[in-house]
Amino acid sequence: MAVSTNDTESGKPTSVQRVLFVCLGNICRSPVAEGVFRSKVESRGLGDSFEIDSAGTGAWHVGQKPDQRMRETSLAHGVSLEDQRARKLGLDDLWTFDHIFVMDRSNLEDARYLDATGEYHPRIRLFRDLDPVADSPDVPDPYYGGRDGFENVYAIVDRTCDAILEELMTGPRAG
Ligand code: 4NP
Repeated sequence: MAVSTNDTESGKPTSVQRVLFVCLGNICRSPVAEGVFRSKVESRGLGDSFEIDSAGTGAWHVGQKPDQRMRETSLAHGVSLEDQRARKLGLDDLWTFDHIFVMDRSNLEDARYLDATGEYHPRIRLFRDLDPVADSPDVPDPYYGGRDGFENVYAIVDRTCDAILEELMTGPRAG
């Protein structure tokens, strides 16, 4: 696991933290989380302190760009997802990434299932555990719904990525 102590002068973590976002298809929720988190990291000048990626527990969309509706919604908020391509989550991801944020409880079950020993389960967390105003444990899957669903996902992801970045920069809050 990456050491995440802070440099006392700059306030930046002294080593790279590897962060992975996971959903089912890797074309809606986890790509926007990857893009928004990267945007927040870069706007704070922390690009050297993080490696950021996303993956899906299913393989249906491997190699595809994020869903057009998600790309358009995200771009309207200033975050391009154009360079992303879907890929499938593997056991090696559980070894590689220090923090794995899954979008819903089904993703949590599927990601844990990859690691039969449970050694890496502590790295896998529900994304909305860090949502300051979560009304559900799950980021709702927008794939079969309307445009409102994509805006709702963006709003959840935006505020939760702020909370994740704060935690990774300062350590978890007490209580
Ligand atoms: P995501 O949304 O998990 O947020 O990428 C979905 C995308 C595609 C499918 C399901 C969910 N699908 O069934 O193809």
